[in-house]
Amino acid sequence: MSGRYTLIATAAAGLESLVAKEVKQLGFDEVTVENGRVIYKADALGIARSNLWLRTADRVKLLVGEFEAKTFDELFEQTKALPWEAYVPENGALPVVGKSVKSQLYSVPDCQSIVKKAIVDRMTKKHGLTGRLPENGVMYRVEVALLKDKATLTIDTSGEGLHRRGYRVEQNEAPLKETLAAALIELTNWRPNDPFIDPFTGSGTIPIEAALIGQNIAPGFNREFASEDWDIVPRKLWDEALTEAEDVAKYDQPLDISGYDIDHRMIEISKTNAMEAGLADLINWKQMQVRDLNPTVPNGYMIGNPPYGERLGERKEVENIYRDLGNIMNEHPSWSVYIITSYQDFEKVYGRKATKKRKLYNGYIRTDYYQYFGKRQK
Ligand SMILES: C[S@@+](CC[C@H](N)C(=O)[O-])C[C@H]1O[C@@H](n2cnc3c(N)ncnc32)[C@H](O)[C@@H]1O
Repeated sequence: MSGRYTLIATAAAGLESLVAKEVKQLGFDEVTVENGRVIYKADALGIARSNLWLRTADRVKLLVGEFEAKTFDELFEQTKALPWEAYVPENGALPVVGKSVKSQLYSVPDCQSIVKKAIVDRMTKKHGLTGRLPENGVMYRVEVALLKDKATLTIDTSGEGLHRRGYRVEQNEAPLKETLAAALIELTNWRPNDPFIDPFTGSGTIPIEAALIGQNIAPGFNREFASEDWDIVPRKLWDEALTEAEDVAKYDQPLDISGYDIDHRMIEISKTNAMEAGLADLINWKQMQVRDLNPTVPNGYMIGNPPYGERLGERKEVENIYRDLGNIMNEHPSWSVYIITSYQDFEKVYGRKATKKRKLYNGYIRTDYYQYFGKRQK
């Protein structure tokens, strides 16, 4: 292999442009943005750097091939024609997962077994084996994804999803995905020197992601990835990527980040998670209800994921929370306020129209990200 790969960073709906921005910031080129994915070129070191650094992507996949397939024969032959042996060693474990959307080949289990058979056929021939592959080595998880009769064959380089940073050892009942929390922050103009408050911190995800961004710490620094054991990304490249991450981290960058929650147990959980993330005393955690919020410095950023009031009987309670928040932040016009919620009448209850609104999905829940830009005070 030339050492130049086509990578696909998958993204939750609505986050593609942020993922693309991160991909470009990492210096990768030939970047194309599509629904749910960002495609780009990188070398083997780029596989390691993508996994370590992408904050808003779900996972990074290596593209092996893409072609039209309307029959099982076409799927088999074209899969077999791809150079699997260039990526996967003789003893690689090759589970195949699949999905099919708006395609003639709609039976996912059949597509999976055909792809598997084609890969095994190809690999046994190329490696001069008879019968089965041993599959007792490192994991290469193959995906066959059919969309409108186009088959995309990839190998997952990440392992666990990239939202699993390794720090969230405890969580509340409605935690935000770490990737979405990072996205909420990247959608603001917050700079590491600016004050930052999450008034509904739960398990602390938003402040922890802000601290990682603020100190330029690679979000994947504390975890492992499937491609760490791959021959095509030798250990020395991972070490190089980790050394780079260590070199560019700004552990001396002062931060003014606070996380509050009405529930003191959440504050304990947040402290544990922050400790796990290596951010021990960097974040100010405090048990506080929204009604008692009182920012003491100007020009801050508030980012919050409050209760949405979706459960029966919660509506009145969340309306009170939103109203209190609106009344308090009205007294602090230099603060920018960002709230994600599925509650449709948020602006009405908060008391002001948002400067900007952006549709986002929190898992399967359709939400809006209400953005109130502060007037910077001199
Ligand atoms: C949706 S959860 C936040 C989840 C958080 N983003 C995370 O990743 O874990 C909402 C949080 O708001 C807190 N909360 C509810 N009412 C509150 C109030 N009046 N003041 C402050 N926090 C409140 C809840 O205890 C809960 O932890």
